[in-house]
Amino acid sequence: MDKVFVMNHPLIQHKLSIMRDKNTTVKDFRNCAHEIGLLLGYEATKDMELCDYEIETPITKMTAKKTKKKVALVPILRAGLGMVDALMDLIPAAKIGHIGLYRNEETLEPVEYYCKMPIDISERLTLVLDPMLATGGSAIDAISMIKKRGAKDIKFVCIIAAPCGIEALRKAHPDVDIYCGAVDERLNENGYIVPGLGDAGDRLFGTL
Ligand code: PRP
Ligand code: URA
Repeated sequence: MDKVFVMNHPLIQHKLSIMRDKNTTVKDFRNCAHEIGLLLGYEATKDMELCDYEIETPITKMTAKKTKKKVALVPILRAGLGMVDALMDLIPAAKIGHIGLYRNEETLEPVEYYCKMPIDISERLTLVLDPMLATGGSAIDAISMIKKRGAKDIKFVCIIAAPCGIEALRKAHPDVDIYCGAVDERLNENGYIVPGLGDAGDRLFGTL
């Protein structure tokens, strides 16, 4: 599991408890998803390479640092949209791709309905965003779709993961590091993460 980073940060745990609570309002749920997105984004970009460039401060010339690689953010619709603004706050120049996928409620298989990526995605660090990694089917399909369009350097960022989802994603895409806020116990018979937070898309957009 050396490529799975679970952030046991106290602020994430605190905010995640608010998200898990069924009495939390849509507004508070959204705010917590945004704030956790910021903390996860910080962690997922921690090993970005830097390069040198020359600048002049008001005092002197110096060799300064900037990130070497550009970034693409790819939220998986719908629920991934709840994390994209946070990552854009951290990386305002990032380009955004969108992948439309939903789980068939009976088979739990992902159904694709949209895919539009930045043209230069092969040159970018690509952060795939989705709050929930349950069976792993959606993340696996999304990453396959992104790879088909040329992406090579990919990380998956989620708020809660189930152990079986992590295992499935690691097996299908061993080159993709996973960053998550918590790993929960298991999935229930309907494919929901337990204890989880329910349906992330419905709670973010108030469509319960
Ligand atoms: C949720 C979630 C993930 C997927 C995870 O989306 O946002 O994309 O389920 O489940 P999996 O790991 O078993 O594939 P959902 O299908 O509910 O679509 P929505 O975001 O449009 O509500
Ligand atoms: N998708 C969700 O939104 N929640 C889960 O618990 C599992 C999949």
